Amino acid sequence: MPTPALHRALTEVADPHLRPLPDAVAALLTELDAPARLGAHLRAVHDVAARLVVGVAEAYPGLAFSAEQVLFGAATHDIGKVAHPSELSGPGSEHEPAGYALLVARGVEPCLARFARDHGSVAYARLSTEDLLVVLADKVWKGKRVPPLEDEVTARLCAVDGEQPWEAFLRLDDLLERLARDADARLAFQARHPV
Ligand SMILES: [Fe+2]
Repeated sequence: MPTPALHRALTEVADPHLRPLPDAVAALLTELDAPARLGAHLRAVHDVAARLVVGVAEAYPGLAFSAEQVLFGAATHDIGKVAHPSELSGPGSEHEPAGYALLVARGVEPCLARFARDHGSVAYARLSTEDLLVVLADKVWKGKRVPPLEDEVTARLCAVDGEQPWEAFLRLDDLLERLARDADARLAFQARHPV
């Protein structure tokens, strides 16, 4: 059974609506006795990633990526903060290798565990499309815009059907603006849950 605080973070009806985390991830957070704040954060980023994936797939049906990987990555990216809880409210990147190790030790395939390790990378050109979408969701959930990251995503989108960069950027910008609209409510939701 999760603690009451974690249970609330994982199930509370939020405004805007935040879909629940995948059952396997919720069970893992419960097993790890994860802080409620972490559960709330992963839920917020996972929900934004789900909406981002739908928006990108609708606009670029030819873009090859695994939505399933993106959703798993978004739902688990900060799981290493279980071992480094100070990084829930302060800076630090020790949670990144710790999260990868934690997931692999529990039998998660390295190709899925990698999001926990790589979501802090700024070497955007070297990241897969799935990685880029997880990193993007981890920014836009709170309304943060990162031009070099968006430039790399735009380049991937252009490569699909030869669209001009400015056209692809306008479509991406429109989608990100829509996702960022609820950022304040998501931040308030996350802040309600204790570290
Ligand atoms: Fe995060």
